[in-house]
Amino acid sequence: MSIAFDSEKRIFKLDTATSSYIFQIYEQDYIVHLYYGAKIPDNNVVGLKYRGGFPSFSPNNIKVDDWMFSPDVTPMEYPGEGTGDFRISAFAVRNSDGNNSTDVRYVSHKIYAGKPAIDGLPALYVENDDEATTLELLAEDSVTGVQAVLYFTVFEKLGAMTRSVKVINNSDKTVQLERVMSTCVDFHTHDYEMLTLYGRWGKERSLERRALAHGRQLVSSKRGSSSHHQNPFGAIVDKGATEDYGNAYGFNLVYSGNFAFEAEVNQFAGTRVIMGINPEGFGWTLEPGSVFNSPEAVMVYTPDGIGEMSRIFHRLYRKHLIRGKWKDIKRPLLINNWEATGMDFTGDQLVTFAQRAKELGIDMLVMDDGWFGDRNSDRSGLGDWQVNEEKLGGTLAEFVDKINALGIKFGIWYEPEMISRDSNLYRAHPDWCIHVPGREKSIARHQYVLDYSRQDVRDYIFGEMYKVLSTCKIDYLKWDFNRNLTEVGSAALPADRQKEVFHRFVLGTYDVMDRLTKAFPDMLIENCSGGGGRFDPGMLYFSPQIWTSDNTDPLERLTIQFGTSMCYPASTMGAHVSACRRTGYDTKGNVALWGSFGYELDPNKFTDEEKRIVKRQVKEYHKYYDVIHFGDLYRLISPFENNNRAAWEFVSEDKNEALLTCVVISRPADTALFIKLKGLDPDKYYVDDETDEVYSGALLMNAGICLPNEGVSDGSSFIRYFKSLK
Ligand code: GLA
Repeated sequence: MSIAFDSEKRIFKLDTATSSYIFQIYEQDYIVHLYYGAKIPDNNVVGLKYRGGFPSFSPNNIKVDDWMFSPDVTPMEYPGEGTGDFRISAFAVRNSDGNNSTDVRYVSHKIYAGKPAIDGLPALYVENDDEATTLELLAEDSVTGVQAVLYFTVFEKLGAMTRSVKVINNSDKTVQLERVMSTCVDFHTHDYEMLTLYGRWGKERSLERRALAHGRQLVSSKRGSSSHHQNPFGAIVDKGATEDYGNAYGFNLVYSGNFAFEAEVNQFAGTRVIMGINPEGFGWTLEPGSVFNSPEAVMVYTPDGIGEMSRIFHRLYRKHLIRGKWKDIKRPLLINNWEATGMDFTGDQLVTFAQRAKELGIDMLVMDDGWFGDRNSDRSGLGDWQVNEEKLGGTLAEFVDKINALGIKFGIWYEPEMISRDSNLYRAHPDWCIHVPGREKSIARHQYVLDYSRQDVRDYIFGEMYKVLSTCKIDYLKWDFNRNLTEVGSAALPADRQKEVFHRFVLGTYDVMDRLTKAFPDMLIENCSGGGGRFDPGMLYFSPQIWTSDNTDPLERLTIQFGTSMCYPASTMGAHVSACRRTGYDTKGNVALWGSFGYELDPNKFTDEEKRIVKRQVKEYHKYYDVIHFGDLYRLISPFENNNRAAWEFVSEDKNEALLTCVVISRPADTALFIKLKGLDPDKYYVDDETDEVYSGALLMNAGICLPNEGVSDGSSFIRYFKSLK
């Protein structure tokens, strides 16, 4: 078992192939964290709870016979509020007396093979119980009777673990949850840097790196979604850690709403890291006997640098997060009409798109926004999910038949959580949107957000979607979300539960997504939120790919895709070739090949030369699909560090194939470029597909190959494919 309990020392040791995580049940049943890092052979680590001296101004517990122990200083596994620990707390409950002193201590535990699901929330899963081991630790606040069940699951082979918390109100009084973080890790030092992903619409997930400093440093969202602006990912890495060297601890929250990732360096230079639902804007009334589940935090540790941290996340998510039919089989190469037509299209026009697409070898046509209700601009129609038959020139089934008759699959766009101010639905149910009575509702893209905390609203929208989706063969659905939540209130909840709306909204979205995936298990769902505004593991549980960004400029996509790859695998990143002006079609294709490939343009407008390029790209998509979708990613030259070039490489699991891509952002002064490959087998020999030259893996990794400098210009790019000699 990868989780061991030493009953004499009362120490838990959670091991993966490369890491150990250790904590102890100390005097008075305090749950004391001891160690997280490279694998160590034993549990002789109890000294790690001390901080080298008596801490003045840090309170003690009179019942603990250890003057050096203080809840304020000792590393803690799930620290409460206001009971001696002045650092950021993981758990705060306002009890019926009105105070929020919170302190949970160990009661009991069980260890078992496998991993339980979390009621109502997405989470990593196992197919066989031998893929993970779980520790369920029951802790209780003996004063209030509130219990916290701490879940720790270890994925032994993957160097990863997950944590989540179930709160149970085991008392006879109603309490108010104020903070329920999903994880807390107390590091012994602050010799680290923090990596996070910031951005905005059209420029998501830029990598930001900062040294930890005394005090609190936080990234978070209070927009009602995980957001373009900060991603629910953060890493704590050794100072100066590189792609290949240094300790790296990655954190990612399986949640699509308000989150917080925060580190606090304290007086002893220790660092507390917490992650979970953002306590700002959160509250939950928990009645006697009821239960609240936190989302799940994923934690990856590796001693082998930031690149390996990312590869562990990628392997973990491909196997234990992505679900359904499209997890392992090849996804259709699609063409989407949005950038070509906006909402101004006809059925006949899209049929010509499908004809051209077929000639080029594309598999699927996606009809984007504008096919329903009175939706001819972004001012109206959301919520009226009835097919605009006039626009399509017939029923949806007739239209889809025409597309399918060409040998092309069909996909459709929805924005199910939204309602236009100008819509029949809004006129009929003005109280169905999220709002606060008497207060002006902020408008964004001329729309409001539906109140998905309400079952009647969800039932109605799901019912309308079902009516359309069940009339014909729809292979793909793009689920969009184009604004954030403001004036957050629900007409269906009492005053003391209004603070629950943010979280209930997310639960409501998951509920509809769950119904949809169950009703249409073969339909591929691609998530989207004005591009990648909800690119998070919660969404990936329901949709194996997410539209990475509305920005399809291949050079700007470099930072977006590099940043996104910190924890999200290539197979999850929707990446399309568009008609944008910068760079030729070669580079557009080479960059888009990184993700779930497609086109976003008018195929009638291709020149003969462009058609030739597209046909070649379609072949490349098929040829390289497995190495990109199932292989290991190596970020070789990062556009965050180098203004001239970016390069990356995919290596198949068996190390028999490697695909190298290099993009020239701005022509550098040194024209010759040797790129050293990574992750190959040094003893294997590889043929360069383009030149037929044969190189040892050792040579490719130690000397590298020299890329041509002929024809290099801003925006040019190269792809090189290597296959091992059998
Ligand atoms: C969002 C998406 C786009 C497109 C439009 C349609 O902005 O990111 O891809 O679907 O909505 O309104």
